[in-house]
Amino acid sequence: METKLENMEPRKIILDCDPGHDDAIAILLAANNPAIDLLGVTVVAGNQTLDKTLVNALNVCQYLGLDVPVYKGCGLPMIREQLIAPSIHGESGLDGPHFDALTKQPEVQHAVNYIVDTLMASDGDITMVTTGPTTNLAMAMRLNPDIVPKIREIVLMGGTYQLGNMSPAAEFNILADGDAAHVVFSAGRKLTMVGLDVTRKVLCLPSIVERMGQIDNRAAKLFVDLMTFFNKTQKEVFGWDGGPLHDPVTIGFLLDPTLLTLRECFTQIDIRSEQSYGRTNCDIFNIMKRPPNSAVAMDIDVAKFWDLIEAGIRAYG
Ligand code: BDR
Ligand code: CA
Repeated sequence: METKLENMEPRKIILDCDPGHDDAIAILLAANNPAIDLLGVTVVAGNQTLDKTLVNALNVCQYLGLDVPVYKGCGLPMIREQLIAPSIHGESGLDGPHFDALTKQPEVQHAVNYIVDTLMASDGDITMVTTGPTTNLAMAMRLNPDIVPKIREIVLMGGTYQLGNMSPAAEFNILADGDAAHVVFSAGRKLTMVGLDVTRKVLCLPSIVERMGQIDNRAAKLFVDLMTFFNKTQKEVFGWDGGPLHDPVTIGFLLDPTLLTLRECFTQIDIRSEQSYGRTNCDIFNIMKRPPNSAVAMDIDVAKFWDLIEAGIRAYG
């Protein structure tokens, strides 16, 4: 399958992430497709502490031979205590694959300053994709609010209108920094919320691992090594035979917007309650009669998603 590019400029994006097994696949998918111009990878603490997520991002880029700048961002949430997810992503945050000694270096500039400077210098044509806690983007918005109208749109993996995965109420990326999510959701910019409601439908079952493993290149090997570990922890924690491949759905959606069925609605982050902190309260039935600030993903074309993943892996030769 090929992505059609007739009369289309590549979509400029900054990918803000916390690798993380599924973040790594999001990088893989975004960095080597002519339909996407990956300007930079900005890293935040999330699945693991920042020193680890940064090394993981650099390792993935080096392993895949990607010439993309990587920036170190925020190491702690804006207000709450740090939350990490070693039970899912392991002690390194990216357990499973073996990486050679790291030579790729991060850029000197802080990720938040990079986001601010890049957006301010742009023509308003950059999409912000976030696949971790939104601390970097929220801090950038607070550092210089003038960036907000410069953002073309935000595509965010996080939240759920149903049940959470780190508490009954909340999804990890939002729970890890609900205050940052509040800043981002209330910024007034077009925002697509790719939540657990759809990512739980793309379970990376053994048949999928086997399908991608039949491709003979480094990207396929990375995919198999990552997903073999990820599936083990998903089985232990949630009882599933295949883990939800959350983060690459954002990139899949940019490559093919028909991937997702969206519903516009008003979404508010719960940052007040102890029990439900980090819940994305999506007013799907428009009960509150407030103007929509989000397009919430309601459904996903599962077969199309795996075709996009397969094409993304095959693109590595
Ligand atoms: C999100 O949390 C992280 O563990 C994953 O990388 C994904 O971004 C899913 O809740
Ligand atoms: Ca992530």
